[in-house]
Amino acid sequence: MTNLTSFVQGLPKAELHLHIEGSLEPELMFALAERNKVSIPFASVEDVRAAYDFSNLQDFLDIYYAGANVLRTEADFCDLATAYFDRAAADGVRHSEIFFDPQTHTDRGIPFQVVADGLLAGMAEAEAKHGLTSKLILCFLRHLDEDAAFETLKAAEPWLDRIEGVGLDSSEVGHPPSKFARVFEAARGMGLKAVAHAGEEGPPEYVWEALDLLHIDRLDHGNRALEDAKLTERLAQSGMTLTVCPLSNLKLCVIPDMAAHPIDRMLKAGLRATINSDDPAYFGGYVVDNYVAAAQARGLDRDDLVTLARNSFLGSFLPPAEIAGHVARLDAWAAAN
Ligand code: HPA
Ligand code: ZN
Repeated sequence: MTNLTSFVQGLPKAELHLHIEGSLEPELMFALAERNKVSIPFASVEDVRAAYDFSNLQDFLDIYYAGANVLRTEADFCDLATAYFDRAAADGVRHSEIFFDPQTHTDRGIPFQVVADGLLAGMAEAEAKHGLTSKLILCFLRHLDEDAAFETLKAAEPWLDRIEGVGLDSSEVGHPPSKFARVFEAARGMGLKAVAHAGEEGPPEYVWEALDLLHIDRLDHGNRALEDAKLTERLAQSGMTLTVCPLSNLKLCVIPDMAAHPIDRMLKAGLRATINSDDPAYFGGYVVDNYVAAAQARGLDRDDLVTLARNSFLGSFLPPAEIAGHVARLDAWAAAN
């Protein structure tokens, strides 16, 4: 292990952009296919990994939704979450705010209850086992219509005391945030936080819409905001957290190579950027791999890495006193290492 890797691993950090379905490793996909007697279009684990060669977001989403088909029971969702939290804990993650896509499951007949209770069981287990706390963020699939999002919000009602916020994911281009303004308003009216993927493939206008129409508390990706100086200024001035995902950006061809990643430009522009893994089973690495890849390609120094980790706590939805505790432990750790 390099010094850089062990430093990043030791840094206490939060993860704020992680799709739990995107943490389904091929080995678990095969095990669940067998357990549930579901057939999958792959002959072997190597076959699955070879299929993970994407040229854009949609290429990935097609495979990601197919993979999720093996998830059937509460135990499956619990096992999925447990596998992620074990990896995250080993990476020094102390708190994680995970996305889930209920419509991917309810549309194939899996009740919302199975998904939510299975994930919540895995979350409780991670806190007991690793002291790793977590929150759930319900994402609406933006390629579906707003009525379907309203139905999902309705199905979630009995769980709203255990769901922190709503998000917006799936195919971005052609599905602007404006399509979901009313359902986000309803969700915020129920006391939920709001986040949205914007500016991953979509233009800066989608980020403006996420701010002004969805009233987001946090921006997922946001890379293309840098194309608009006024927007960048607005994000910096308002202290908006950006959940940036370097290996995802590389695998989905948002950037041509890691040397072109904007993470250091984001920090220099005064943006509260964080580093996250997005869909680690599909993009070739968990959160430490993402910090290391970005640091090596862009020459991030120790202070940058500590800033990124600090931003991850500051951008979390934890209560202020818990954030302050995490930041104090981070600063103490950085001073001692
Ligand atoms: N973008 C949009 N939708 C997604 C992603 C992503 O990176 N990962 C899982 N769903
Ligand atoms: Zn994402």
